Amino acid sequence: MKCIVRIILLLSCMNLSIHAQPDPHSAARPSEAVITHLSLNLEVDFEAKRLKGKATYRIDKSPQSREIWLDTRNLKIEDVRYADGSKANYSWGEEKPFLGKPLRVELQPNTNSLSIEYSTTEGAEAIQWLEPEQTQSRKPFLFTQGQAILTRTWIPIQDSPGIRFTWDAEVKTPLEFMAVMSGRNIQKRNDTGVYSVQMELPVPAYLIALAVGDLQFTPIGERCGVYAEAPTMAKAAYEFADMEKMLLAAEGLFGPYLWGRYDVLVLPPSFPFGGMENPRLTFATPTIIAGDRSLTALIAHELAHSWSGNLVTNSNWNDFWLNEGFTVYFERRIMEALYGPDYAQMLEVLGYGDLTSTLNELGSDSPDTRLKLSLEGRDPDDGMSDIAYEKGCFLLCYLEEQVGRPAFDVFLTRYFKEFAFKGITTERFIQFLHKQLKLSEEQKAVVQRWIFSPGLPAECKVPNSTRFDNVQVAVQQFISGNEALNIQSTSGWTSHEWLFFIRNLPGTLSDVQLALLLKMGWYESGNSEIRFAWLMNRVQAGDTAAFPHAARFLSEVGRRKFVLPLYTALLSQASMRNEAIALFRDQASRYHAVTRNSVEERIKSLKK
Ligand code: BES
Ligand code: ZN
Repeated sequence: MKCIVRIILLLSCMNLSIHAQPDPHSAARPSEAVITHLSLNLEVDFEAKRLKGKATYRIDKSPQSREIWLDTRNLKIEDVRYADGSKANYSWGEEKPFLGKPLRVELQPNTNSLSIEYSTTEGAEAIQWLEPEQTQSRKPFLFTQGQAILTRTWIPIQDSPGIRFTWDAEVKTPLEFMAVMSGRNIQKRNDTGVYSVQMELPVPAYLIALAVGDLQFTPIGERCGVYAEAPTMAKAAYEFADMEKMLLAAEGLFGPYLWGRYDVLVLPPSFPFGGMENPRLTFATPTIIAGDRSLTALIAHELAHSWSGNLVTNSNWNDFWLNEGFTVYFERRIMEALYGPDYAQMLEVLGYGDLTSTLNELGSDSPDTRLKLSLEGRDPDDGMSDIAYEKGCFLLCYLEEQVGRPAFDVFLTRYFKEFAFKGITTERFIQFLHKQLKLSEEQKAVVQRWIFSPGLPAECKVPNSTRFDNVQVAVQQFISGNEALNIQSTSGWTSHEWLFFIRNLPGTLSDVQLALLLKMGWYESGNSEIRFAWLMNRVQAGDTAAFPHAARFLSEVGRRKFVLPLYTALLSQASMRNEAIALFRDQASRYHAVTRNSVEERIKSLKK
């Protein structure tokens, strides 16, 4: 009997550890008190580069709890009050690098609401305030980027992906601007300058986002549309014309879209990411507007996050692969549904290339190549790499292959339903997987290795693409002296084939080969991926003639995926190193903190 009790106790403890793992990147103590709703009232001051206003919280607390802990970083807290207007006592926890300074507010036995007056400071790393010359409309602009732990730099909040709440906001802007957020937007400019936004579904803090600029809106379908500055609008609306089809395909795969509308906001080129899955309003870099719709997998990716990430959310950043790995898998399924298996195979091959180069860079025995990460004591941003994306995706491909696509699709649909609006840990995912799919002991062991061991299991299937096989042949011919690229063999090529061609070129090219490739005009390409791949080839070859082209790119674009590797390549060339450092000093203030900090770190580590 005793033994049974002990087993039950043990099992319930295990269950607890599966559900509630403390978040090492948040000071919130959810077992004491949590935010259930946030109301924001903010005023945008472009001159002072400051947001100022009030956050009001509804709070759910345990009966005995007398405090709530919020995350803040570089915020100026002016006043903290209870619902009846009386002042609340508060104190500060220890300030830590990148985590900020926890705010502890005393609660009374019956407290269920609280408000904080505050303003942001120069240290608000989530926010980028753009100068007019950094935008298409030549007007100031601001946007926020919350993921992973930057929301606390513009809102005092429980900044943990495992804590969800509903929110609403009222944002006051100067009249020539429009404010949009990751919620239900009005879509139209108004003459009050006040914009109200609601999010009535519970979301974690990292998914709250704001952008203010000279914006317009164009509908693309019934549920989709694009926000952009006027000069970008026509190109953006053309590029993203298939959005609604993507949404329908996604729903056909893994269940209904629960968020209402799905819009995309095209940001100025300093946006540090390709895209960010802010609910109802993906934030996107303009560098995916290639003119030929060739880079729209990114939209499929951010849309897929509406299920993996926004609906079912990694409960802390150690489980980041549950957000990104699932999303890459889902993204490729959407692209396959719209454009066929050939297309999806190309994406897989490119992804596998990214995976092997990340493994080489980090070393296959690096703990950062495990899917389940341990980021305690580190900035989560440092541990997030292509591993979560691609190794995560290839694990799901492995599972699909083991059980067959129909069974795997049923599994994923159930997964999204079961954990909708909840946080999920890796351990809970494994438990659910074992319950739903009857894997053999051997298969279970493979999954275990995939998740908890570094490197890539031998069971990972190397993807293959016939379209890229043809490109490989052309590359070989080109290298082996048949420089004149056979018009016939390249005539049907899309930008994907060209991109793969450039990525597979050797560093050392003969004068004849180089002259021929320079005629392709890739330094000026409107396709940012092609321009970037060619720049990397030339810089890595030590070709100093590439420097002015690299400098132009680095002063136009702030997307970290391009900026960081390009600076790294320049810095490792003795012939271009000093110029690259000078270029960075000149450009640093025009990059978002996410990009700027990464490049700064890289420069520091190379100096050591
Ligand atoms: N959620 C990520 C962006 C992110 C990750 C921001 C980690 C902060 C911390 C987004 O969904 C993403 O993955 N963007 C990619 C594009 C995608 C197609 C791989 C990007 O920005 O390049
Ligand atoms: Zn993503």
